[in-house]
This record gives sequence, structure tokens and C-alpha cells, in this order.
Amino acid sequence: MNRLQIEKLMNPYLDHLQPYPFAKLDQLFSDLAPAAAKTRIALSIGEPQHESPAFVVQAISDNLHRVANYPSSAGLPELRSTIALWLKRRYGLPDIDPDTQVLPVSGTREALFSFAQAVVPADRTALVMSPNPFYQIYEGAALLAGATPHFINCTDESALLPDFSSVTAEQWQQCQLLYLCNPGNPTGALMSLDQFRHIIQLAQEHDFVIASDECYSEIYFDEKSPPPGLLEACVAMDNNDYRNCVVFHSLSKRSNLPGLRSGFVAGDAQILRGFLQYRTYHGCAMPIHHQLGSIAAWSDEHHVQANRQQYRDKFAAVLAELDGHLPVMLPEAGFYLWPETPVSDTEFARQLYAGENVIVLPGRFLARKSGGINPGENRVRMALVATIDDCVEAAQRIVQRLEKG
Ligand SMILES: Cc1ncc(COP(=O)(O)O)c(C=O)c1O
Repeated sequence: MNRLQIEKLMNPYLDHLQPYPFAKLDQLFSDLAPAAAKTRIALSIGEPQHESPAFVVQAISDNLHRVANYPSSAGLPELRSTIALWLKRRYGLPDIDPDTQVLPVSGTREALFSFAQAVVPADRTALVMSPNPFYQIYEGAALLAGATPHFINCTDESALLPDFSSVTAEQWQQCQLLYLCNPGNPTGALMSLDQFRHIIQLAQEHDFVIASDECYSEIYFDEKSPPPGLLEACVAMDNNDYRNCVVFHSLSKRSNLPGLRSGFVAGDAQILRGFLQYRTYHGCAMPIHHQLGSIAAWSDEHHVQANRQQYRDKFAAVLAELDGHLPVMLPEAGFYLWPETPVSDTEFARQLYAGENVIVLPGRFLARKSGGINPGENRVRMALVATIDDCVEAAQRIVQRLEKG
């Protein structure tokens, strides 16, 4: 069978999917060789590198025999109630029903992607909105659901948050689903409770669903002020059944368990009922030993505080190196730096790769042109996930490169 025939057999929406940012990066570096004398330090991938908590790994291995059982799509009642308790503690929610308002998922990536299929009717005039720059799954979810992505720019002028004032009433009317990312990847910016409230009012007025991706919510710098969340904002405006709203959380970043594939969705019971029905067919129920490990993880905050301390130390050390050399600030939350670059973002990434064997991600690969600009241009994303020594070494090499001009 030749290529054309294979393509003809496939869903034409697949053609609209963009290569992933890391594929674009490989292409960008394809004519370069990295500085051979220097070890490779990758700040490009947002994969947590801190150690997974031993007690969670133990809980998983103690329950490996549960591979003998099929897991259910709704997950174990004990897992759902542990998550509901966590949400109440974390966000001060007066009530959340573990049976109807909480659903375990196999990591937020698959859930964010499949959610659009469950929510959005296949109709190209339907808009699925997201911040710009953004986590690329939102775009793929919109396209494969048969809808049209609409990107809302996050620039300095809007404090790196989506500029909702740029969206017209007609566009809100066409909106079926709005993805939020709070804390933002890559910006690290946080929406306030008031900003959440404003968007919830718009969702109710124009009848769309808000999917708030809060998978970085537990990586923050001031122990006394954790990032606010969408469900917390619902309660603050007496939307106690979380109408139109769902949040996505994950153990990947909070607990350094990216391989566990464990997260949850919580909020509006009506939406979750439909999503659960969808998931029964989707067939991605979490293995029972992973659910039991997840119960252990959601029940403990000590390891999460220790994790935050590691990021705090790393950000302080790296920012001390970069200070005065690169316009960069401590983000409000999350584990990314999002500095402006002295030359174009792609050129800066090439220089660092060829000259220093340090890999950063050009911001333009994380954003699309919208309103005449690509808001990722002339910025790079640097994930401080490697060891503190590697992160500091990368910062020193970046400074050396900048000094060479
Ligand atoms: C903004 C954002 N959302 C979701 C995810 C997916 O995380 P996971 O599927 O591990 O929960 C990531 C992963 O990097 C992310 O950056």
C-alpha cells in the first residue's frame, strides 16, 4: 500500500496535528553538533527528576498481585474519597461528593485530550479556547474533536495570563470548551480568584465548559500562599455544585510520579457523568495497584513540602547565576523559567546547543500565531527539573555564552 492510500484510510483531522515541540527541536538542531567537550544538560523537557516517594513505590509493589483484577472506569471508592478529602483540605471546599464529582484518570494528559471528545460536538464552528502559549494536547484535543482551536495570547501586557478581553461576545458564544492552565506552562503565571470568577460568569452566560489544568498547583514558592484553583473560585461565588467547571490534577509533578499515570478530574457532576460514560468506552481505567499507590500519595503532604523545598533551592541558585545577564524572574509557581532572549528564541537555542550543550525550548514552538503575533517568540522555556548542580552548571554556561555575545 503506498502512502497516499494509507492516508486516505485515516481520519483527515490527523493531518491538522502539528509535530510535537520536541520534534521541531530535533529539526532545529539537525545541522548542528553539540559542544562535544561538555556534558549534555537538557532544560527542555518538563519531566520531574526528583525521587519518587519510597512509601508510594512500596504501596504499589505490595499490591502488584492486583494485576489479576480488571479495574473499573470510576476507580476505587477509597481513591475517590481520598481525593475528595484532599480537595477539601487544599482548597477549603465545604463539600465535594466522591461518587459523582471526582473521577480518577490515567494522568492528566489522556484526560485533557479525551475530555474534548466527550464535551464538544463535532462541528468546525465550535471553538475550543486555550491560552497561547499552551500545552499542545489542548490543540490536538480540539482538532480531533472536530472543533476549531482559538488561542488567547498571554503576553507581558496581560501579565502573562490569557487576555480574555481580546475575545468577542460572538466568539464566547461559539465557545464550547475553554482550557485554562493554572499555574501556567510555560509562563508560571497564576490567575486570581477574581479572574477565575469572571471566567465562570462568562461560562454560565455563554454556556461553555471550563477545563482548568492545575497539574502544577503544588509547585509554588511561598508555603503560605498556595495557588488558587477553579473549584475554590466556584465556592467563593456560591456555585457550590461547580456548574460548568472541572479541574484536572496529577501526581506526576506533585509527587514525582510521572510514570504512575495517575491524576483526577473533579467538578460538575453532570459533566463527569458524561465523561465517565465516555471513559467506559475509552477503556483507560487505572490499574488497581496504581490506585492504591495513589491513595498513599494523596494522603501525605510531607513529601510534597520537601519537593517544593528542592525547587525553591534550585530556583534561588539558578536565578543568582542569571541575575544581571538574562531578564528572568522567579515564576509565581511551576518549575519553568520563561525569559526573553537577547536574539531570536530559535537562534538562542541553537547557540546554547552548539556552544554549551545546553538544551532549551524555543517559545515559538509552544505557541501559535494569533492576533498577528506569536507570543512565544523571543522567549525560551527552561525546566529546572535536573539536579541543582546540573541546573546551576547550565546557568553558568548560559552566562558564558551571553558574555561571548
Ligand atoms: C500543562 C500540563 N498539563 C498536563 C500535563 C500532563 O501531565 P500528566 O499526564 O503526567 O498528569 C503536563 C505535562 O507535562 C503539562 O505540562
